[in-house]
Amino acid sequence: MQETIYQTFSAEETEALGEALAQTLARAPAVALYGDLGMGKTAFVRGLARGLGSRAQVSSPTFAIVNEYEGPRRICHCDFYRLPDADALFDIGWEDYLASGSLCVAEWSENATDAFPEGTAEVVIRRLDDADGREITVRLC
Ligand SMILES: Nc1ncnc2c1ncn2[C@@H]1O[C@H](COP(=O)(O)OP(=O)(O)O)[C@@H](O)[C@H]1O
Ligand SMILES: [Mg+2]
Repeated sequence: MQETIYQTFSAEETEALGEALAQTLARAPAVALYGDLGMGKTAFVRGLARGLGSRAQVSSPTFAIVNEYEGPRRICHCDFYRLPDADALFDIGWEDYLASGSLCVAEWSENATDAFPEGTAEVVIRRLDDADGREITVRLC
């Protein structure tokens, strides 16, 4: 496992980091994002999608609705914030999305740690003392 820690000080910087890491992250079957509300998970995914060549509009998915972004590699963007139970993963077709070869990206992965296959990349975002500062830890297998 390879771990790298970054710092950003605006949403734009977090997006730019997601964009810069997109090709590397896309080698993983899935990207599990961890971090509280407002930490910048969606901002990171916005950059990631751009970095993978998607022109889609990226926004926080509402639970049970998986956002799909078309591009050279399709992205499935989930949010497990309100995940009621493990069966709900089945209902949204999570396994099918993984099997489809799309890059599966999930916010609030804390709520579904067992859902991710081996090789999943992890992105953990936490606030620094500075209100707009974020520490972003990226773990690649
Ligand atoms: N360094 C930063 N990185 C990302 N977002 C930041 C940063 N500093 C401030 N923000 C603000 O935090 C919010 C992050 O929102 P969002 O990406 O939707 O978070 P999440 O998906 O984690 O709930 C935005 O309002 C953004 O402007
Ligand atoms: Mg979000």
